[in-house]
Amino acid sequence: MTSAKSRALVLESFGSLPRLVERPVPEPRPGHTLVRMRAAQVGHLDLNVVDGKFGILPDLPAVPGTTGCGVVLASDIHPEGALVRLGGKGLGLRRDGCWAEHVLVPDAAVETVAEGTDPALACSWFSPAGTAWAAVHAVAHVQPGERVLVTGAAGAVGAMTVQVAARAGAEVIGVVGRPAKLAHVPAPAKPVLTSELSAESVGGPIDVLVDTVGGPVLRDALPLVRPRGRAALVGYTAGREFGVDLGDFLLADVSLLPVNLMSRGREVAADAEELLADLRTGALTLEIERHGIERLAEAAERLRTGEAIGKVVLDLD
Ligand SMILES: NC(=O)c1ccc[n+]([C@@H]2O[C@H](COP(=O)([O-])OP(=O)(O)OC[C@H]3O[C@@H](n4cnc5c(N)ncnc54)[C@H](OP(=O)(O)O)[C@@H]3O)[C@@H](O)[C@H]2O)c1
Repeated sequence: MTSAKSRALVLESFGSLPRLVERPVPEPRPGHTLVRMRAAQVGHLDLNVVDGKFGILPDLPAVPGTTGCGVVLASDIHPEGALVRLGGKGLGLRRDGCWAEHVLVPDAAVETVAEGTDPALACSWFSPAGTAWAAVHAVAHVQPGERVLVTGAAGAVGAMTVQVAARAGAEVIGVVGRPAKLAHVPAPAKPVLTSELSAESVGGPIDVLVDTVGGPVLRDALPLVRPRGRAALVGYTAGREFGVDLGDFLLADVSLLPVNLMSRGREVAADAEELLADLRTGALTLEIERHGIERLAEAAERLRTGEAIGKVVLDLD
């Protein structure tokens, strides 16, 4: 096994994309599980790490990729051949992650996945499902009959948030940045274009905003929230900075609430698992784009520019 070769994406300097290299399959060692990867997520967090713009960064060179899914080749505690999800324990942040055909990771970063689960779904569902659940329930406490506006509603977190809010009994409006995405806003949300955002187009005051886009989209959506309403802030794909005029902020009387999946992961884990069960049967939907390991540049570009629909995943089969 040690002489076999394996491809990996290796980050050599922050700000440039990792290089595809051939290297030996990692040598098994105690306390670690050797996995033949099937799929790995390409998420905004991963790109922030690649850019060197995240609070936790690895020493270089390093293999990025915070979550993935594969089959166990060797482990003291996980059965050989089991389908597993990899994540946590600093994968892709403090230590080598999942953008490789073979990885050796701490046993504790490995959890079994139900046989038959699509590996691309298994490695990418938790971020959107957990974040959507945290935003709708743990943070914004959405109530039946409330009017919820979701930005980036054809994105991974946005599309899940639309569905979770609708299940909570809310009336949902899904905002997207380009006409091609209108058809990808999940039912039963009313789709609206960002450029057409107004009190009229969204049908009156909003009780809860869940913003996954940030920047100018947050600036334009926030005034639509009624006084004493809530705004759950999830992401910043369109801009990290957001200016607040304190006079306007106090007058508007809208609570700005951060959503942090890292701190709420355990809290939402059981509910997110239930969402996975519905994603497997198709009762809920999460669109996934798949790219080969040699197509990372294209995958990253589609995610960065907002062209991508739903999750972006490296197919490592
Ligand atoms: N707080 C947390 O714990 C947490 C957890 C998971 C994810 N996140 C963050 O949440 C955000 C959404 O994640 P996601 O997985 O849903 O991403 P996504 O699928 O790429 O969706 C983000 C949306 O942002 C818009 N967008 C993307 N790039 C843009 C650009 N360059 N300029 C303008 N708009 C752009 C697009 O919507 P439109 O084109 O429709 O405007 C896109 O659908 C990311 O910032 C991610 O890091 C945060």
